[in-house]
Amino acid sequence: MTDLFKEDAIRKKIEELTQQLNYHNHQYYVLSDPKIDDFAFDKLLKELEALEKEYPSCADENSPTKRVGGDITKKFNTIAHKSRMMSLDNTYTLEELQDFHDRVTKDIGEVEYVCELKIDGVAISITYLNGKLKQAVTRGDGVQGDEVTTNVKTIRSVPLQLTGDYPPELTIRGEIFMPKTVFNQINEEIRVELEEKGLDEEEIFEQQLKNPRNATSGTIKQQDSKAVAARKLDAFLYTVIAEEAHITNHYESVMKARSWGFKVSEHIRKCGSLEEVIKFINEWEKKRFDLDFETDGIVVKVNGYTQQKTLGSTAKSPRWAIAFKYPPEKATTILQEITFQVGRTGSITPVANLKPVQLAGTTVKRASLHNADIIAQMDLRIGDTVSVEKGGEIIPKITAVDLSKRSPDSKEFKYITHCPECNTTLIRKEGEANHYCPNEDGCSPQILGKLVHFIGRKAMNIDSLGEKTIALFLEKGLVKNVADFYTLKYDDIIQLEGFKEKSTQNILEGIEKSKEIPFARVLFGLGIRYVGETVAKKLAHSFQNMDAIMHANSETLCSVDEIGEKIADSVVAHFKRPANVELIERLKSYGLQFEASVDTNIATSTRLNGLTFVYSGTFSKVSRDEIEDLILNNGGKKSGSVSKKTSFLIAGDKMGPEKRKKAEEFGVKIISEDEFLAMIKE
Ligand code: IVH
Repeated sequence: MTDLFKEDAIRKKIEELTQQLNYHNHQYYVLSDPKIDDFAFDKLLKELEALEKEYPSCADENSPTKRVGGDITKKFNTIAHKSRMMSLDNTYTLEELQDFHDRVTKDIGEVEYVCELKIDGVAISITYLNGKLKQAVTRGDGVQGDEVTTNVKTIRSVPLQLTGDYPPELTIRGEIFMPKTVFNQINEEIRVELEEKGLDEEEIFEQQLKNPRNATSGTIKQQDSKAVAARKLDAFLYTVIAEEAHITNHYESVMKARSWGFKVSEHIRKCGSLEEVIKFINEWEKKRFDLDFETDGIVVKVNGYTQQKTLGSTAKSPRWAIAFKYPPEKATTILQEITFQVGRTGSITPVANLKPVQLAGTTVKRASLHNADIIAQMDLRIGDTVSVEKGGEIIPKITAVDLSKRSPDSKEFKYITHCPECNTTLIRKEGEANHYCPNEDGCSPQILGKLVHFIGRKAMNIDSLGEKTIALFLEKGLVKNVADFYTLKYDDIIQLEGFKEKSTQNILEGIEKSKEIPFARVLFGLGIRYVGETVAKKLAHSFQNMDAIMHANSETLCSVDEIGEKIADSVVAHFKRPANVELIERLKSYGLQFEASVDTNIATSTRLNGLTFVYSGTFSKVSRDEIEDLILNNGGKKSGSVSKKTSFLIAGDKMGPEKRKKAEEFGVKIISEDEFLAMIKE
């Protein structure tokens, strides 16, 4: 076979496989009607992958192999939308809905509506040229957004190639979302991993995905498309923009979109009257919780394009559509018990244990109470009938007590006075919300929590150790405090059940390697109350070594920018305890870093004194972590959001459009990475 002949044959085979894969993908992810099993699908995909690898010049940019991810988006380009991506006016009551209907009928007379679910996700605009997916752009500020084409290609329900009588140029808009099942599964994985590391409930909660919408917007802006593919996003499309499609109304447009291969929600209905609209709204009020995606309302759209045009739009939203938002879901249940958790620093967290109740599609058994004040303010009592509400977050809140249902012999709730784990008398410092167990060295969740915190990724990063192993070491008396890690011997570990030569060696190597971890992280790893990552960096930078910090009084500590009395007092109190000083001496003798290494790349100065910086996006010369170090090391302050107090916004690639908008609003100067670096140069 000649080369040309062969290439032709390869292209043909690739095309054939592509078609088959696209067909089966559509059957599975759009129609939920698979025609082959996963194994057979993977076989086809592997075959295509192998061919593309061998003949890269024959590979298509819209190949089904792109679904798996792998390409990196270094920079998310800003793209202007051809027409503005509008938002919708919200209504919360049937009266407001009636007002909308009155306005519409006044302008156009008789009306036909289309009702759809309002999907709580992230809006996207995707363009197709000759049936091929060309570009996907986020909503951004409605006028321009970020190009996320590579990432959108990993969403299996978004077709890479259209079918049927599609128009040559087409923009389709809709909503990307994370299915509830995927969201719950990811959070469960995070929980297992962090529990293993010994983090307490509040800390785990902090690191879990907050809600499916947040998770979606975070995911779609990831640089690594493989990470996006792993998040299993999905998409419903609902707005077709195509000049040559000869469509006259909205309903027809989405039906056409479905025939071209798009995933269109099946829960869409034409309604000839407001009564029918209200019926649709009522039908979905409870049923929506059974869906695998979050909906917070119903979108009501005027169907006819001519009527839509007559009604027109305001600057931001069409006059021909409105969103009806459901009120937050509430449920009534009984407060059965209040239990208490003891954190790593001895902090006590009360948790409401509720009689299990259905709320927004999940069974709720617990609610967060945070501290004693919350309980006292509501005069919560065991046995009370309480209202629980779920906002945008996963953990529900108790919002009210039904006093009429309170039993006459109910007693005021007495907050615990002793630690539920070690029975030590709790303390509560003036002005502080939480109670603490002061028995640092004798209260088991505190001891274990400290050990686990020390080995954490942001501290000593000893990943060969996990909570289970540490708990075992603790039980066998091998470690009592963090210094004991450094005297562990091979023979101590190998004799334990389940430990082989390799795992033992790994643990010892991991511990040895941690001796190189820079001072700021060692300081953070000690787990001094209120000394988080940023405070540890600040202290390490200002004092340069451990001795200086240990000998500093509250006043000296407070003179460091952003170190207040609360932190200073906590540091002083920590080193007042001889046991803590002794611990440092031991760690020093094992060779841990207790001096800040002078990083020649990072200048230290007071040039940025009094200035507050916000940075956004990615940078080409320095990493985001380095930017933070540079700000802090030169006396500046860093903040996460733009406000009128911000001095500069450092703009990196793919900077969030919201940040830019805020900066313009507050008159905050936007500078480039280079301009920032010039500010701190000698
Ligand atoms: S139509 C011109 N339909 O809700 C109107 N929007 O606040 C364009 N949304 O930005 C939107 N489900 O992200 C429409 N079935 C649906 C929707 C929907 C969710 C989102 C969309 C929009 C926001 C409006």
